[in-house]
Amino acid sequence: MSSQQSKSITVSPCTRLHGVLSVPGDKSISHRIAMLASLASGTSTVRGFLRSEDCVTILEAMIRLGARAEFTGGVLRITGTGGPFQCPAGVLDMGNSGTGIRLLAGLLAGQAFTTEMTGDASLRSRPMRRVSEPLVRMGAAVELLGNNGCAPIRITGGTLRGIDYAPPVASAQVKSCVLFAGLFAEGRTTVVEASPTRDHTERLLTAMGVPVRVDGNRVSLQGYGAAGPKIQARAWNVPGDISSAAFWITAAACREGGSVELPGVGWNPRRNALVSVLRRMGASIHFEASTDATACEEMGTIRVEGRRLRGTEVCGAEIPDLIDELPLVAVAGALAEGRTVIRDAAELRVKESDRIRSVVDNLTRMGVRVEEQPDGMVIEGPATVRGGVTIDSYGDHRLPMAMAILALSADAPVRLDDIACVNKSYPEFWDDLRKVGGHAE
Ligand code: S3P
Repeated sequence: MSSQQSKSITVSPCTRLHGVLSVPGDKSISHRIAMLASLASGTSTVRGFLRSEDCVTILEAMIRLGARAEFTGGVLRITGTGGPFQCPAGVLDMGNSGTGIRLLAGLLAGQAFTTEMTGDASLRSRPMRRVSEPLVRMGAAVELLGNNGCAPIRITGGTLRGIDYAPPVASAQVKSCVLFAGLFAEGRTTVVEASPTRDHTERLLTAMGVPVRVDGNRVSLQGYGAAGPKIQARAWNVPGDISSAAFWITAAACREGGSVELPGVGWNPRRNALVSVLRRMGASIHFEASTDATACEEMGTIRVEGRRLRGTEVCGAEIPDLIDELPLVAVAGALAEGRTVIRDAAELRVKESDRIRSVVDNLTRMGVRVEEQPDGMVIEGPATVRGGVTIDSYGDHRLPMAMAILALSADAPVRLDDIACVNKSYPEFWDDLRKVGGHAE
């Protein structure tokens, strides 16, 4: 049985971390391309599509809605419906994918039929009112069938009208859901963001010929009415996911003598704040843009050389730009000199796990002095990282990966339980860990 299928894995301390890695494709971009290519006329070819559980889930949903998708070698070919989706038989199971359920809700609000979406226990505990409220305002009928505004979610689409919407939380998923519904609305749909969030939806729509207007914190598009946009299939090249590269960036940045080179990584300014934070902590990180004209966003090679880091504070508008990397900021903080503070990050409590609780619990198990706060945590470094302990994944993919990076600096091997969740976003993680000199078995 391979380590990826097994329930637990033991990571040993690593004295030398060094290597060149190509990380898998960007999860956010892969989700959006799966959906938009399914809406397009013709067959899109996608290089670098992330072949992980979340992305297979979204492809299966799109197939149920009338698209065709198949991998030939490393290339995904998606043939879209070129118009309205087909009404699926039965409930769409979105597994663990928050991006899948929330973004697809926007497209389904524009379809003249009723669809029900559900997911696993974690997804069914995550807040969905943030998408149902704007969709109802636009004219869709949306029922949240779970407890406290959670999935299953039943959507009856119809004639939508454009709205001006200011999401109460900084969320690219909410913004994207509203813009996707706006494609099927009469009139203009505008999202006004208090803090900017990742802009892959805006970029991909623009690349497909849908005019998206960005004016300061206002993002808007003109609806095409119930028929939806007429978009054409095209070729895409998905960059490597900086949220996956982040594990190796942090691992190398935190250890003197460590170095990694990561070619082909996406360098979206709304996604690379971890690099700014680590630089502020003293890390040496260089980015060299590549000239691949087929890339759907800027990408290039990230080179990291390890240094002794010092603590920092991460808060405010920086948070949405590294929301998925905050467990790694905590890991870097544990290894840095002095105090690291994470604030304004209450949103972490409604990710795949309560990531404030789950990170604090696991850091504590590893002997790190960390204090839980309602909206973040305070970490006192540098810690003597304790091995010989067992880490709980909380069923949240980013947890075991982040803790594996800390385990490389422990004084004895660390066991990580329930690691199948890693397949959600990074099935090759353990192989890549070995490629840079780590031991995991
Ligand atoms: C995502 C946006 C973020 C992020 C998630 C992917 C996206 O969620 O945490 O992993 O693809 O739009 P929020 O926008 O809800 O913060």
